[in-house]
Amino acid sequence: MRIAVVGGGPGGLYFAALAKQLRPAHQITVWERNAADDTFGFGVVFSDETLGGIEHADPAVYAAMQREFARWDDIDVHYRGQVITSGGHGFAALSRKRLLAILRRRCAGLGVEMHFRTQAPGPAVLASGYDLVIAADGANSATRAAFADSFGPQVEMRRCKYIWLGTDLVFDAFKFYIEQTPHGVIQVHGYPYDATGSTFIVEMHSDVWQAAGFAGLAPADLPPGQSDHASIARITELLGHIIGGHSIEANNSRWISFGTLRCASWRHGGNVVLLGDAAHTAHFSIGSGTKLAMEDALALAACLNEQPDVDAALTAYEAERRPIVESTQRAAQASLEWFENLGQYTHQDPEQFAFNIITRSRRVTHGNLRLRDPEFTARADAWFAADCKRRGLGTGAVVPPMFQPMRLRGLELKNRVVVSAMDMYSAADGTPSDFHLVHLGGKAAGGAGLVMTEMVCVSAAGRITPGCAGMYAPEHEQAWRRITGFVHEYTTGKIGLQLGHSGRKGSTKLMWEGIDEPLDDGNWPVCGPSPIPYQPGVSQVPHELTAAELDAIMAEFVAATLAGDRAGFDLVELHCAHGYLLSEFISPVTNRRTDRYGGSLAGRLRYPIEVFAAMRAAWPARKPMTVRISATDWVPGGTTPDDAVEIARAFAAAGADAIDVSTGQVTPDERPAFGRSYQTPFSDLIRNRTGLATVAVGVISSWDDVNSIILAGRADLAALGRAHLYDPSWTLHAAAEQGYAGPGADWPDQWVAGSRPPQAGRADGPKPRLALIHDTAAGIAGTRHARWRPAPSGERTAAGRTAAGRPPARSTLEARP
Ligand SMILES: Cc1cc2nc3c(=O)[nH]c(=O)nc-3n(C[C@H](O)[C@H](O)[C@H](O)COP(=O)(O)OP(=O)(O)OC[C@H]3O[C@@H](n4cnc5c(N)ncnc54)[C@H](O)[C@@H]3O)c2cc1C
Ligand SMILES: Cc1cc2nc3c(=O)[nH]c(=O)nc-3n(C[C@H](O)[C@H](O)[C@H](O)COP(=O)(O)O)c2cc1C
Repeated sequence: MRIAVVGGGPGGLYFAALAKQLRPAHQITVWERNAADDTFGFGVVFSDETLGGIEHADPAVYAAMQREFARWDDIDVHYRGQVITSGGHGFAALSRKRLLAILRRRCAGLGVEMHFRTQAPGPAVLASGYDLVIAADGANSATRAAFADSFGPQVEMRRCKYIWLGTDLVFDAFKFYIEQTPHGVIQVHGYPYDATGSTFIVEMHSDVWQAAGFAGLAPADLPPGQSDHASIARITELLGHIIGGHSIEANNSRWISFGTLRCASWRHGGNVVLLGDAAHTAHFSIGSGTKLAMEDALALAACLNEQPDVDAALTAYEAERRPIVESTQRAAQASLEWFENLGQYTHQDPEQFAFNIITRSRRVTHGNLRLRDPEFTARADAWFAADCKRRGLGTGAVVPPMFQPMRLRGLELKNRVVVSAMDMYSAADGTPSDFHLVHLGGKAAGGAGLVMTEMVCVSAAGRITPGCAGMYAPEHEQAWRRITGFVHEYTTGKIGLQLGHSGRKGSTKLMWEGIDEPLDDGNWPVCGPSPIPYQPGVSQVPHELTAAELDAIMAEFVAATLAGDRAGFDLVELHCAHGYLLSEFISPVTNRRTDRYGGSLAGRLRYPIEVFAAMRAAWPARKPMTVRISATDWVPGGTTPDDAVEIARAFAAAGADAIDVSTGQVTPDERPAFGRSYQTPFSDLIRNRTGLATVAVGVISSWDDVNSIILAGRADLAALGRAHLYDPSWTLHAAAEQGYAGPGADWPDQWVAGSRPPQAGRADGPKPRLALIHDTAAGIAGTRHARWRPAPSGERTAAGRTAAGRPPARSTLEARP
């Protein structure tokens, strides 16, 4: 095969070396427009997992890299005059120059044809003249631009400014310096790359960059390849103390705004394929682009070797790499947003801040860190226990963070777990049934600190479906009293009432008969702030509510609140999320009113706040009230995260004790970014920007996630919905799995006998004695004893992928005969 490689960066060169090694008959040509030793950047970082893949694929390259590596395990967080160290991370780095030199040497030795200081022939020429064209031409790929229709690239520019620099100070760990300056907070990411120096990346929000006067420093006509020395002098003034008398080094260093590149496809026609930065970028804060580029190269070379033809190889390559790259990009996105918002965390104490920064991408969790560095998590847990005690919560005993108690007004919760509101569609004319008793009672017995009812409707017309529960008739109150009575008599959990009105999303079928679909018969008229149907052509057009009708609905909310108190609920939550009536008032997508209840955010919030205030006045002062909001509508022109902060503040001013932070479901046009804990960043934003207590919800998948969210200060409570349908005793089981026994997870007396995980069945035969295990594959009596080492990243979440989303190491690449 004749293979053209555009770009002699790490991706292009590594691919060329591997492909040539696997099939020496390939004619591989690399074009690199720069000189061989003319490269930007300083160090490149690899994790243990990436190195595993490189070691297997090409031991010669790996051995050469290994001789150069700076290795370390620690991450040091320098913050408010303290250094907090987290160990066990396993990094290796080397200089980019040395890496490229190793790869060039390997390519030369294998017979790859390389042209330096040579622009590659145009993409169309290469596509027609070669069997395969590898576009490894970097983030500004001209090949990608030439075939943009096929690749569908999109770049999302971000709000921080950063500059790659070096220093001749050799750090002894990965370093985060969080520097409070008169202009705002500036962060430094530093890591050693060899015995002579370290990478030193300076990053800050663009507002801070402006305030610090960087905007006007670089000459407008700074020639390509030149560094911005004026900015570097200013950085030295501001941050020079970090490196003492050492120097800051520049190499084509200038301010950059990071752009996340995503492509709809990585291939054009039958023979052009993107690789590395040309295909995707991921913020440098979770690992270098070099690592992704080399992993791409490895996968592509392997697929070419394994598949019968180029077409199948390119398909297999993209199928293998895309989910891994997208997962890395999601983690990188969480990380870059964290750094953009870093200013909102600088109120945190050092222990919490350090835990927060290290778990920012959500890949590293409390559980991972406990494996890597038990002392670090123990210190953070101890800080949290002491902090809780300072706030009058708990005894100061160090327990998993999710089992620290919480207080909302006069209500004490034994732990941080909430059963999220879930409609069961099983009421008769609004009266909750025995199903509700078993469902909610079982969840309370199962250990959650707080169990929320489903959205309980304030009127028959305010129901979503005929099966929805209500609080608008004496028999409803009576039935609810039976349920709260069970919870209070038999468990130490608390029970909250979520009150709502369906608005334009009312009069629809039960969830399992057709979600959001109008009833086949027996529909009742629906209402809303504006006559805009939820699904045009499918849903009813809502009646636009008049002022008198709004007053009547407010009275229904107040009546239901009073009934909720009489029925024995501990907390009431106003449902202002998910596109139901009050949410429709808040969202600009659904509220087009021109009266005092529409227009600006303040206008759109007016009615929900009036309802909230009226309920607050009716609800006993000692009992807490919360509000559930949709923090974003996930559509352009809808509610934004900044709006959500204002919405939260407005409800807090009206007496809300916590904000239950959900998102979306306001319009069927939404495009949510689903994923593990995907709504938690909105809770994080509101909590850390306003100081209000929050509840995080949405695909919080494990008790490890709950511990991480609570300890990092992303929320005060974690609500889990579907996880509780899967396992009603989710909290008790979480306690058993963590070996926790205490007031945060008290088993009902009736269940104490089952409070330990069931014993596994006996394995047949005696266990093999370690001393007898052979090193060779075939052990005693032909049994195969696998040698197993836990992945440093912790538990496995999906077949073949570690929790950190890293690819499993490919077995040694071998040339096909
Ligand atoms: C200023 C800067 C500094 C960086 N520093 C670091 C760092 O210290 N550590 C780190 O891990 N990552 C660093 N990165 C990111 C890192 O360089 C990339 O993520 C990584 O190199 C991607 O590898 P690649 O092979 O896909 O692309 P690149 O390394 O970008 O390689 C692409 C190559 O293609 C060449 N090229 C482009 N078009 C043509 C053409 N038409 N003809 C011939 N040649 C062409 C370019 O000159 C370039 O050498 C830095 C990025 C920038 C912009
Ligand atoms: C069957 C079901 C019914 C739901 N009903 C409600 C509801 O009545 N009120 C509400 O605010 N959210 C409701 N939700 C949303 C959940 O409270 C929760 O926000 C969502 O399921 C995401 O959390 P999870 O990923 O832990 O399930 C419902 C979810 C499910 C699965």
